[in-house]
Amino acid sequence: MKPREVLDLFGRPRTGLSRAERTLSNTLTVSDFRGRARRRLPGPVFDYLEGGADGERSLRDNRTAFDDYHLVPSALRDVSGTSTATTLFGRRYSAPIGLAPTGYTRLLSQAGEIGAATAAARSAVPYVISTVATTSVEDVVAGAGVAPYFQLYILKDRGISRDMVARAAAAGCEVLEIAIDTAVSGNRLRDRRNGLAIPPRLDAATIARIGVKPHYWTSMISNPALDFANVRASASAGTGIAGGSIAEITSQFDPTVGWDDIAEFRSLWPGTLLLKGPLSAADALRAKSLGVDGVHLSNHGGRQLDGAIPPVRLVPEVRAAAGDDFGILVDSGVRTGTDVAVALCLGADAAFLGRPYLWGLVATGPRGVERVVEILTAELSRTMQLLGVTSIDQLREEGSILLRAR
Ligand SMILES: Cc1cc2nc3c(=O)[nH]c(=O)nc-3n(C[C@H](O)[C@H](O)[C@H](O)COP(=O)(O)O)c2cc1C
Repeated sequence: MKPREVLDLFGRPRTGLSRAERTLSNTLTVSDFRGRARRRLPGPVFDYLEGGADGERSLRDNRTAFDDYHLVPSALRDVSGTSTATTLFGRRYSAPIGLAPTGYTRLLSQAGEIGAATAAARSAVPYVISTVATTSVEDVVAGAGVAPYFQLYILKDRGISRDMVARAAAAGCEVLEIAIDTAVSGNRLRDRRNGLAIPPRLDAATIARIGVKPHYWTSMISNPALDFANVRASASAGTGIAGGSIAEITSQFDPTVGWDDIAEFRSLWPGTLLLKGPLSAADALRAKSLGVDGVHLSNHGGRQLDGAIPPVRLVPEVRAAAGDDFGILVDSGVRTGTDVAVALCLGADAAFLGRPYLWGLVATGPRGVERVVEILTAELSRTMQLLGVTSIDQLREEGSILLRAR
């Protein structure tokens, strides 16, 4: 064979793309980004991103839960016009995929919350900013040009939580998610064994690690200090949590939070209200009776109650109990477009990602996040076509025929 024929056989290198863009387009699965993120981060920081609580049983089960379903396609249908576009809480999105709230994002990548929100806006998918974000909601709106959903922890100091909610509304946020799975902080053994301090201390162990990942540390040192920018902006002097350590913030988690608090925040919040983290149809129904608009089913990616049921398994019973006029988002373990299809066939409105978009952000900043969404959307679209459906509505309507539990 001539060299030109060999090139034709294996595909010519794409010209006109920068090296970074070529690497991105050669990253074919979301899990490929995980390896790239691992190579960039110091071990303890990667463990913070990856880890689950206690023995990490829920973390493992979240993945295998998706393997419990088989797809049953309908053959010989015209699927040339397939679209993944969908409407969620009155807004049109490119796909039923969202980016879940993650705390301390600038510990992982200096692109941080603004990088993630910008990528979400460019990809036309929703992004949720965390109470414990390292960028304020106002700065995220200014940087990304789109208001995110806001995730609230109801803190012991209710004044801080109420003020954050008022700021989120003023910044243009339309959806509030109250996380209810954090009465206390989960037992993250990896972080405890690593002695993870947030913000990182510049002690002997840290200095030793700088030699191993110099790029990471140079970017940490040359960028603004990490703190809980959202909380800080609402904390009045003397609350004792303006310093920005993880210990200060987790000491603000409130084990007394109850349904009365949900009723109060329902009366304060003018927009769409969701609960993040309920894991039963009974709790979803109780939420609905208080005027809550939907649930974000989640076991916090296995980072809170270890042994908690994988949320995807609960979707059918929550949908059956709460009816069609109730929003159901689901996360924990979603890694492929086929996982998204399974969640929708079971009755969810959208599937959200935690770690996967952080892998993309760490690997290549906002473009990495965009590529993660692009890969999942392409996988979802292909799965829909091979199943014989052309729209998200059809996928959900025919879900019970298209899916079979093992
Ligand atoms: C590094 C990290 C930080 C997180 N921080 C928060 C948070 O501040 N608030 C919250 O409600 N959930 C938080 N979560 C949970 C995510 O919102 C989401 O429920 C979970 O990551 C989904 O599982 P997955 O990582 O398997 O996709 C965090 C998850 C990770 C991985």
